Formats: sequence, C-alpha cells, structure tokens
Amino acid sequence: MSSVRKMIVGNWKMNGGSAALNEARVLASELAQTPSRARVAICPPATLVHRLATTLEDSPVEVGGQDCRAEAAGAYTGCVSAEMMADAGASLVIVGHSERRAGFREDDALICRKVEAAVRAGLEPIVCVGETLEEREAGQALEVVGRQVRQSLPKSLSGRPFAVAYEPVWAIGTGHTPTLEQIAEIHGEIRTILRETHGEAGGRAPILYGGSVKPDNARDILSTAEVGGALVGGASLKAQDFLGIIRAVG
Ligand code: PGA
Repeated sequence: MSSVRKMIVGNWKMNGGSAALNEARVLASELAQTPSRARVAICPPATLVHRLATTLEDSPVEVGGQDCRAEAAGAYTGCVSAEMMADAGASLVIVGHSERRAGFREDDALICRKVEAAVRAGLEPIVCVGETLEEREAGQALEVVGRQVRQSLPKSLSGRPFAVAYEPVWAIGTGHTPTLEQIAEIHGEIRTILRETHGEAGGRAPILYGGSVKPDNARDILSTAEVGGALVGGASLKAQDFLGIIRAVG
C-alpha cells in the first residue's frame, strides 16, 4: 500500500452559489483549528472556482474543476479549458466522471485527451472509472474498469501527480455501496494495471473510492486495501458531513 496522504475530494456537481462559500469557510476554519492528515479539495461548479480559490487562499483546502475541454482555447461555446481552470485558481480537475461519460457521451479516447490537457495546464487530474449495474451483474466489472484505466490514462502522466477514482455508477447518489471485498478487488486490479502502464508513478497514484461515501461508512471504506481516499458528492455539500468523512482519516 502506498504511503501517500489520503485525498478527500468533494464534488459539488451542479450545486451551489454564493451561499455555498460559507460552507467552505466553515470547513477551512474547522481544519485550521484541528488539522487533518488528509489532503482535502473541493470541486465546485465552474462559476465558483475563482471565488472559492480566493476564499480558501490561506487554507490547506485545494480547489478543483469538475471537467475541462481538451483544447486550450477556441470556438467552443459554453466550454472551459484546463488552462482557464488553472487560471481561475484550480490545482486539480476531475475528468471522465460517469455523469459526463453517460450524459455527454464521453469515451475513453476523449477522456484521455482531457487528461493530457490537464497535464499541459499543470492541473492534477482525477480520472474516474466505474462499471454500470448491468456490467456488474454480468460479471464484467473488472474487465470494464480495467479497459477504462488502460484507455483513459495517457503515457504522459508518468512522473506527474494524478489520481484515479473508482466510482461504480450504481453506487453514485443511491445510498448503495459495494462490499469492502468488492472495493478491494477492483482497487487491487486498478493498482496492478497502473503499475504495468505507469511504473513507479502508477504504484504511487492514489486510487479514490467514490459512490455514496458518508460519515458513517467512510472509516471502513478508507481503511480498505489500496483505497487512497474518497471522491464525495452529496455528502460534500454540507461542511459538517464533509468534515465527518475527513475526520475518518484522522
Ligand atoms: P455521491 O457522488 O457521493 O453523491 O454518491 C459521488 C460522485 O459522483 O462523485
């Protein structure tokens, strides 16, 4: 198991306006009083990246984007590039979330280009993978996740900081989680592939678990073999819930 600090990353998805900055302020002040061993980040909607980065300037809490365009600039109405995310104050970016894979038809090849864009812009990518319920029930989870890991992570990642997030689609926002054995099995497979494809860097990269992580299941999940942290949706919106998960790291 790697000795890298565990990462707890909040994904606010399409939630939050100015009032949500207060939750981040509460989080920062709690962590200032009682620091955590974890690396903590929040990925707000694009509209809040800059303000959140300013709000959290003097705190150890990092700010990330939820997606980026593969191109650096151009005629792409409504899109935000990795360079723009970095310019707004982000240090990380989530790429290939299942809501983008399914809702925006993003495939592994496009996700791979987005990861390259993140690296080009100096952002640390968090690359999401995960099987659907049908794939799990058909006994294809290992194969599907393995293929996503092999095809979504460019060679250019070697030597750069990056993370992978295993998020079974059927566990996202549902309150259902895989068993700890199932999590350990997939994380073990991801680690084996990462070592093979990215050598030493692949052996070190944190593999986060995501999908219905809550304060009451965080401790067990975070102490499962090869779980290097958590990607948290719903429970990251309220500072106290998110703190409950962060405190599970110690
Ligand atoms: P959830 O979402 O914690 O609300 O299940 C996780 C995610 O989609 O990253």
